[in-house]
Amino acid sequence: MGGEKKTRSVAVIGAGASGTITAAALQAENYFTRIRVFERRESPGGTWIYDESTKPHLPVKPGDLPSQSDPPLQIPSVLPATTAPNHQNRYLETPIYAGLTTNVPAIAMSFSDAPFAYGPFVPHYVPQQYLSNYFSTHKLDSLLELNTTLEDLTEVESESKEKDNGWKLTLRKRDLVQNVDIWWEEYFDAVVLANGHYTVPYVPHVKGLDEYIKKFPGRVIHSKSYRVPHIWKGKKAVVIGNSASGKDVSTELVKWVSLPLYQSRRSKSRWDGEEPPPGIEWKPVITEYLSDGGIVFSDGTILRDIDVVVYATGYKPSFPFWNLEKNGRPLYDYEQGKLINSYWHTWFHHFPTLAIVGLPRVLTFRSMEYQAIAIARLLSGRQWKSLPPIKEQTRWEVERLEKSKANRTKFHDIVWDEGETQEYLGLFFRIAGLGTLLGEGRVPPVLSKETIWAIENIRKYPEPGKDQRIREGFARVEDLQSEEQDWVVAHRPNKGALWFI
Ligand SMILES: Cc1cc2nc3c(=O)[nH]c(=O)nc-3n(C[C@H](O)[C@H](O)[C@H](O)COP(=O)(O)OP(=O)(O)OC[C@H]3O[C@@H](n4cnc5c(N)ncnc54)[C@H](O)[C@@H]3O)c2cc1C
Ligand SMILES: NC(=O)c1ccc[n+]([C@@H]2O[C@H](COP(=O)([O-])OP(=O)(O)OC[C@H]3O[C@@H](n4cnc5c(N)ncnc54)[C@H](OP(=O)(O)O)[C@@H]3O)[C@@H](O)[C@H]2O)c1
Repeated sequence: MGGEKKTRSVAVIGAGASGTITAAALQAENYFTRIRVFERRESPGGTWIYDESTKPHLPVKPGDLPSQSDPPLQIPSVLPATTAPNHQNRYLETPIYAGLTTNVPAIAMSFSDAPFAYGPFVPHYVPQQYLSNYFSTHKLDSLLELNTTLEDLTEVESESKEKDNGWKLTLRKRDLVQNVDIWWEEYFDAVVLANGHYTVPYVPHVKGLDEYIKKFPGRVIHSKSYRVPHIWKGKKAVVIGNSASGKDVSTELVKWVSLPLYQSRRSKSRWDGEEPPPGIEWKPVITEYLSDGGIVFSDGTILRDIDVVVYATGYKPSFPFWNLEKNGRPLYDYEQGKLINSYWHTWFHHFPTLAIVGLPRVLTFRSMEYQAIAIARLLSGRQWKSLPPIKEQTRWEVERLEKSKANRTKFHDIVWDEGETQEYLGLFFRIAGLGTLLGEGRVPPVLSKETIWAIENIRKYPEPGKDQRIREGFARVEDLQSEEQDWVVAHRPNKGALWFI
């Protein structure tokens, strides 16, 4: 990356939180002659757009990776072109359900120059409105190209040694008035991927599950399709997974379904005490689905007459636009769960004009801000610190992989404790520095004492009573207790502070 290489045009893919702050950081440099933000949805907001209906439910394809479930589209051989509209499922809908509230304190979740309307935890429409407003209040809206999907991204060899390779983008705009797809190409010096990674749902392969799905259509869904609990009133339900989605969905369903609600867990989550919450019965992993509708668990128990199975088993990042053949290698290794040949969860060793924002699991909007500022600064060539040589970047990657294997953690999960998040943000801070004397370039925010305090002390708390809190490791700090009903100021000893992300 580097302004000495005259990077003047930049494309940003996606207008969720990552794309929003990347556009703002690029614009603030007052250096680039062309910045374009391509967003396939009808408005900014990304994850936070609420799609009331996902009917029919998203197809559930056990064991499929995004390369199978979200393959590239067939691109017209001659461009520009106008074609019949695409009907291939692109997983456009978001996973937001009606009752979802944020789980990161607003002070740590929002961008540093604009607070959320209120906090600490807000309904899903608050971040959605926030991101849309951010585009207009920062005069970024003119950069936006909505209803436009990046369908192919191919590296293009530079014409001179003075310049790094650039990128050819093949774009598809859905024209709803004429009901056609319009295809064209654009060229950019650099591309920032901000395409999100909670789009393509993942359901594990289980013996008999494919046949079960065919035999009982609609019975198995992924939490991405979940919207409201009352449609399963009085039904028998199983939820698989006990991370954020599994916890939230089972907390909602338990108030409506025929009890007990079964929750299948592979491992103990940070939310779990010694006993399940009232109304919930824990089960181990499912080993087989029987042709008569029975569901077999690893302890040998079988459940029959189940009406709904909700797989809250997470998502896999998807890059269907990445031209594997022409770019010479894939971007993501699904076996290892990591970007390939990448540095600091953001840059790629051999693609100096490509970056990605928002992939690691860490503080969300706020950490994207640090990433975006550092990327913009490197692209404008005004960085205070350059990226290390490839050899050092490779060493970082190898060591991190070894560490995550040894600790059984995920490569792109960055924890708060032991200073890992601060180390992560700190490098972006040092790369970016201050911008110019004339105020060009966004300055990375300080991680204030208030923000740190909020991260370490304010907890969204679903509902349970005081006993439950204590069982889960919370000790209420009565004199600091808020009047809000749905969250507490709490101290959680011996647990990772960012466990809720
Ligand atoms: C159920 C759920 C709840 C969550 N709750 C919280 C929470 O409480 N607090 C929190 O901080 N985080 C939460 N998160 C994480 C959340 O995803 C991040 O907060 C953040 O919004 C991610 O932003 P992003 O821009 O990286 O990705 P996204 O929000 O997914 O945005 C990516 C954008 O890129 C667009 N796009 C994708 N591919 C293309 C393409 N080829 N061409 C053009 N456009 C494309 C998409 O349409 C989308 O608008 C939650 C996630 C989930 C799944
Ligand atoms: N605002 C909110 O309150 C809210 C609500 C929902 C989601 N979110 C966010 O959305 C993101 C995604 O969360 P998520 O809960 O959907 O996904 P996730 O955190 O990736 O969790 C996936 C769950 O599925 C389980 N699992 C995965 N593979 C499995 C297998 N083969 N067999 C059995 N179980 C399996 C995992 O178990 P293991 O733990 O054993 O791997 C884990 O419990 C997170 O950032 C989260 O914070 C936020």
